Amino acid sequence: MRVVVKKSNADVVADAALVLTCFQGTSAPEMRCGTIAPLIARLIESGEFGGKLLQTALIHTEGKHPSARILLVGLGKKEEFYRDIIRQAVTKAVHFLSDIGVKSFSIALPPADIPPEDSAACIAEGAILANYSFTSFKTPEKEEPKKEIDEVTIIVGEKERAVADSVSRAVITAEAANYARELANTPANIATPAYMAGVARRLAKECKLKISVYGKEQLRKMGFNALLSVASGSAQPPYLVVLEHNAGKGLPSICLVGKGITFDAGGISLKPSEGMEKMKWDKSGACAVLGVMRAVSRLGLPLHVIALLPFTENLPSGKASRPGDIVRAVDKKTIEIVNTDAEGRLILADTIAFACQKFKPRALIDIATLTGAVLVALGSQCAAVLGDSELVGPLKAAGEATHERLWELPLWKDYFEYMKSANADIANISQYKEAGTITGAVFLKKFVPEEVKWAHIDIAGVAWMERDRHYWRKGSATGFGVRLLTKFLESWRG
Ligand code: BES
Ligand code: ZN
Ligand code: ZN
Repeated sequence: MRVVVKKSNADVVADAALVLTCFQGTSAPEMRCGTIAPLIARLIESGEFGGKLLQTALIHTEGKHPSARILLVGLGKKEEFYRDIIRQAVTKAVHFLSDIGVKSFSIALPPADIPPEDSAACIAEGAILANYSFTSFKTPEKEEPKKEIDEVTIIVGEKERAVADSVSRAVITAEAANYARELANTPANIATPAYMAGVARRLAKECKLKISVYGKEQLRKMGFNALLSVASGSAQPPYLVVLEHNAGKGLPSICLVGKGITFDAGGISLKPSEGMEKMKWDKSGACAVLGVMRAVSRLGLPLHVIALLPFTENLPSGKASRPGDIVRAVDKKTIEIVNTDAEGRLILADTIAFACQKFKPRALIDIATLTGAVLVALGSQCAAVLGDSELVGPLKAAGEATHERLWELPLWKDYFEYMKSANADIANISQYKEAGTITGAVFLKKFVPEEVKWAHIDIAGVAWMERDRHYWRKGSATGFGVRLLTKFLESWRG
């Protein structure tokens, strides 16, 4: 989809459709749409359209306006407005118009009291996110062309340069989110650890990132025994991918670690078969970090950003690790694997310890579909964040701005005894059946040295959607974390 910024006004725009948004209770004259005011007035007077939240009405202009159609989209009550409503309203327009075969539309900035560059960025993001669907494996039907919008034109009256700049940044970030969604949606028979390493190699080439890919033998030498124990049940060899943006320039450094389980059957602690197909999304954290690397390089952020992505499957077999096995992680700590389904924290433990030893970063953020418990606690409206306040505060702010919202859970030291093991330094699951998301974070924290600022984001409840929600669609990955972390990095100073 192309997104164009044009200085013009809604009265003279000629496109297949023109989209106008308004608050509830707006009168036709207030909408300042000269030639078609009577048409809009009629819709409002008849009660057919009142600007209610995400209400739509389509007008065929029949020559009374240079655009063939006008689509009205309601923004709801002015006092209940927040920025994501712009993305949601644009999503309505994209879905409505692409459904009826329209390929392009123009849209005026919403009448909200926010800077034009911000509302235009929300329009661009909403349009790009809404236009994505996972169709790569569907044979196209000849008579039915793909329902997609090819071009969106944002009409602005002022600050055209600032708007165009902000839109181009939004386009980069939203496209990176769709890139992450496509990777996460790719099924596990195709998106194997080797495939993901290949994806990272292509990304490195395209975005001029430094890349190192470590295979099984190297990982053995490097002491990644927790990762290798997870991989041991699978015929697919594991890989650790390290990508760097701005390597060796002495810029403030931050590590991003993403869980890359390409399929999580649970291992010997096998998951129930119902719903197991969803575990192809267990690589969503790593996919989000790949998206972030794409965005930060295209945006040219002045930071040393290091992505560390452990990829493996978690399958049962005669070679798989058993409950009760004890392994020694990269930092030499011993872990008792009480439950082989708590594998995400095992691969992250080695990777976090390695990241801190090798790169000595100022900060490290990990993002992972770590616990089913986070869905119980918070539902699918936000992800959980835990860690140091220096990171958690700005992360939450970035979450509000992007509407990839975060809710903080505590890491009080009282929780640390939950992870005690009788036989090793730490167990990989809690001895009590409570606080699952917190105890997952507690485990990870044990592998972060004191001097490194750290935050953990558990996206198990938001990495894909079980029902349609605006630009996020049922049964499809969300790319959650790409816009959030990119926004965070845009203002992080180290
Ligand atoms: N990949 C799962 C977490 C998950 C569950 C993600 C549901 C998305 C939806 C993770 O590896 C896992 O299995 N976690 C266990 C941990 C438990 C054994 C302590 C869980 O959440 O049940
Ligand atoms: Zn698991
Ligand atoms: Zn998992």
